[in-house]
Amino acid sequence: MANQLDSLKDWNPVGPGKFASTSTCPAISISSGKGGVGKSHLTLSVGLALADLGKRVLLIDGDMGLANLHILCGTYPEHDIEDILSGRCLPEEALLSIGPGIDLLPSASGVTNLSALPPARIDELAQSLSGLQSRYDFMLVDTGAGIGETTMNLVLASDRMLLVTTPEPTAQADAYAFLKVMRSHRRDLPVHLCINMASHEEEAIQAGLRLSQVSARFLGWEPSFSGWIPRQAGLERFTLERRPAFRASPDGIFARAVRQLAREVVRDLSESDSGFFSRLTNRPKVAG
Ligand SMILES: Nc1ncnc2c1ncn2[C@@H]1O[C@H](COP(=O)(O)OP(=O)(O)OP(=O)(O)O)[C@@H](O)[C@H]1O
Ligand SMILES: [Mg+2]
Repeated sequence: MANQLDSLKDWNPVGPGKFASTSTCPAISISSGKGGVGKSHLTLSVGLALADLGKRVLLIDGDMGLANLHILCGTYPEHDIEDILSGRCLPEEALLSIGPGIDLLPSASGVTNLSALPPARIDELAQSLSGLQSRYDFMLVDTGAGIGETTMNLVLASDRMLLVTTPEPTAQADAYAFLKVMRSHRRDLPVHLCINMASHEEEAIQAGLRLSQVSARFLGWEPSFSGWIPRQAGLERFTLERRPAFRASPDGIFARAVRQLAREVVRDLSESDSGFFSRLTNRPKVAG
């Protein structure tokens, strides 16, 4: 962990063209223990940063039941995942372009049964969405906070997880609890850690170290450190204006750190890592 943190200052950005264009694309779930730590902002911003690098990106709003990624994108969906599940539209018809190279698959809000999708419904969803993957290089799946059934199934199917937390002790405790549950179901999922809303680098490093030490001690394993994002004052103003913060303040400390994080999060991911839809369909599901 200490070495990973030391190498933070030596991040070596990977330029456009480094990532092979693939016919299937790896899925990265963006998750947290505690709510409100910045998952949705980071999903959208990392997606935009990857699109700027020439990657084709699909954002999936996996916060089913409390979906709000479309609001951050400034879009008004006509269809969503619930429509796909109930056969009211095809997956392609639900896609919203939110910029060159980046689409959003919106989800529904205020729909209780989406937050605890039974395994059979998850299979159906995976089967209907699997046709979309050849269009993209990466899928980013924004999940709900915590260890709910749908969230856990999306995370356990993904090829990599970005675990978002803040330096707050409550967020750290919940991040550890999330890791503990996740690891009890799947031990081979690569986990990348991001400390969001830190006041300065030292605070982020200490927070990363704490979580890493607790994981090493009690789980016998620790996540990789992918970076930290500073707290940028006034970020919520852009949400009120329905503008992605990453676009509205492209030279701000948030957007600059996100660019580094995006490169780190997809580093070394390749076509062969892609197993999201087949795992979503074939692996035993977590059922409540
Ligand atoms: N780096 C940052 N600096 C300042 N504010 C931030 C930062 N990251 C996120 N925020 C703010 O934190 C709040 C929560 O962000 P967001 O909705 O992305 O969190 P979330 O983890 O997706 O929440 P939920 O668990 O409810 O889905 C928003 O008001 C957002 O503006
Ligand atoms: Mg969210």
